[in-house]
Amino acid sequence: MKRLLLTSALPYANGHIHIGHLVEYTQTDIFARYWRMAGRRCIYLCADDTHGTAIMIRARQEGRSEADVIADMSAAHQRDFAAFQIRFDHYGSTNSPANRALCEQIWASLRERGMVTTKDVTQLFDPKEGMFLADRFVKGTCPKCGAEDQYGDSCDRCGSTYAATDLVEPRSALTGARPEVRSAQHLMVAIEPERPFLSTWTQGEGRMPKEIANYLAGHFLSEPLRDWDVSRPAPYFGFEIPDAPGNYWYVWFDAPIGYMAASKEWCDREGEAFDDWWRSEETEIVHVIGKDIVYFHTLFWPAMLRAARFSLPSRVQVHGFLTVNGEKMSKSKGTFVLASTYLKHLDPAYLRYYYASKLSSKVDDIDLNLEELVNKVNAELVNKVVNLASRSSRFVAQTGLSAAYPDDGGLFAAAAAEADAIGAAYAAFDYARATRIIVSLADRANEYVDRMQPWALAKQPEKKAEVQAVCTVALNLFRQIVIYLAPVLPKLADDVARLLGCPMDRWELAKTPLVGTPVAAYEHLMKRVDPGAVEKMIAEGRPAEAAEAAGAAAATGAPVAAEAPAAAGGGAAAEDDGAALAKEPLAPECTIDDFTKVDLRVARIVAAEHVPEAKKLLKLTVSLGGEARRTVFAGIKAYYKPEDLMGRLVIVCANLAPRKMKFGLSEGMVLAAGDETVHLLAPDSGAKPGMRVH
Ligand code: 2FM
Ligand code: ZN
Repeated sequence: MKRLLLTSALPYANGHIHIGHLVEYTQTDIFARYWRMAGRRCIYLCADDTHGTAIMIRARQEGRSEADVIADMSAAHQRDFAAFQIRFDHYGSTNSPANRALCEQIWASLRERGMVTTKDVTQLFDPKEGMFLADRFVKGTCPKCGAEDQYGDSCDRCGSTYAATDLVEPRSALTGARPEVRSAQHLMVAIEPERPFLSTWTQGEGRMPKEIANYLAGHFLSEPLRDWDVSRPAPYFGFEIPDAPGNYWYVWFDAPIGYMAASKEWCDREGEAFDDWWRSEETEIVHVIGKDIVYFHTLFWPAMLRAARFSLPSRVQVHGFLTVNGEKMSKSKGTFVLASTYLKHLDPAYLRYYYASKLSSKVDDIDLNLEELVNKVNAELVNKVVNLASRSSRFVAQTGLSAAYPDDGGLFAAAAAEADAIGAAYAAFDYARATRIIVSLADRANEYVDRMQPWALAKQPEKKAEVQAVCTVALNLFRQIVIYLAPVLPKLADDVARLLGCPMDRWELAKTPLVGTPVAAYEHLMKRVDPGAVEKMIAEGRPAEAAEAAGAAAATGAPVAAEAPAAAGGGAAAEDDGAALAKEPLAPECTIDDFTKVDLRVARIVAAEHVPEAKKLLKLTVSLGGEARRTVFAGIKAYYKPEDLMGRLVIVCANLAPRKMKFGLSEGMVLAAGDETVHLLAPDSGAKPGMRVH
């Protein structure tokens, strides 16, 4: 088996870890743990992503050095990861000497290959702060509709996009100063010459989920690839480019190189050769990322690696976003739960198990339904798995397990035969399938215990041997299940290893029964989830009402995105248009039959009013032609004034099942595009209410 070098995306150092991030780290950690159990050499690496404007601004606002800010955040991140049993072989920082050296090496290769060019870029400049302003750091009046207080890239009111230099009355979001238009030379990396290579590489078998490969082929690789702007003029928190003094590598240039820097530090510590991991046919490199950063990992990153003659990733595993109770994580609803908040109320094992049961190799978003979490963990983990031990171990605490494995009607052998299928599911990132098989094994084991009733046998002194035999079977079936669950629930596996006095850390162990060994006194292995604790966690996450009033409402649902933008601006991704492009959702494929089930119609808004008690909703009355009117509640209050909507043609989903809401019945859905902002979809002129949309 080839060695495995595994990474998760590097979390930004300007925000704390939240439950959205944890989807990815849990997903990768399970993969690493499975492979280690299966006997494969595997290193799991990560680091803090520390550079960029956001950190620099934060440091200035907090009156500290950037080094201080990132050191604190790194410690907090590592604390949270450890508490969730995410076990890295090394956790580094992009602000490290190892990363600087590797950036310089890759840069030299890009230069050698003639891939670096220059371009004059005109940007707004804050004379007070003495810095160029990324679009999110400029505010002003929309040049199209006149809405005030809009960001430098697009208008929240009318949805138009523009250059920051087009804003009317622009001002710096940092100092309020009137920015000047200045031009500076930027360094660009040309990746268009790599397009033929990337077109083949991205389509390689198993390289990435099929939907991602198709998306890249259709959206990016079918036309010339734009040059990538990889430099930022001073002041910028990052590495100065050696042959372009006064210019710094853009955060997204050095971030992925951080994967290599973490490997280098690990190699130096362990006495390993770096090239065995980054320049060897015997090593597979697997990156696990969220769908919002596909562009960087599948186009720029392989181009950089190839230029410097390093190995390319064998697989880029992409997951979807997390929603909570069917909606984006939201600060106002308390569903933007920080890892540290979660830990105050709930056992990390619950979330690990829940995510595992939802994760497949597909890019689908996953929903954390809190009620389902309670039910699933209680029904599957506590009632079906842990109960196997609590119902049988105390009867053998005195005697230990039988000396020979009793006749169990083939149960153990049948469950042992599933080891390969479960292992294959983990290896394919299909944890939902792995957990389904495991739960079915637990069902069979419970049927056995229910049938044999060791507690009844234990009341009959002459049945001592039978009690021991039944409990030996039950505990062996339990042990097998816990070995299979060990990648997901490592702490449970450790606790069971203590209870049964046996190792639980190799996959093969599930194939041989344990006999003739003592059993320790039973200690609680897992508590039932208390729904009250879930409520308390949500209540703690819910901020003072003020947060929503100030517009901090919709936090991003992206697992690896930075925390909801602070007043000063978002994470570094907000500085890059590539990130925005790559945020386009990648829904699972549907057939034409699926699509035609959705009855989309042109409709006219004939009335629009505020719903005073609702923070986000407007009540719309729409006409689908003729007399019929429908009421639709739309979450667009922050973006549109009712009077501006009157008479507008929109597209509605007309056959959506009516939904009872707090404020009345909603009889359809108005279609809109966008993420942080909303743009209502409208037909071309000439369309009439009632027309079907094909
Ligand atoms: O999107 C993010 O949160 C980035 N900090 C991920 C960086 S991944 C890698 F390229 F370093
Ligand atoms: Zn506007």
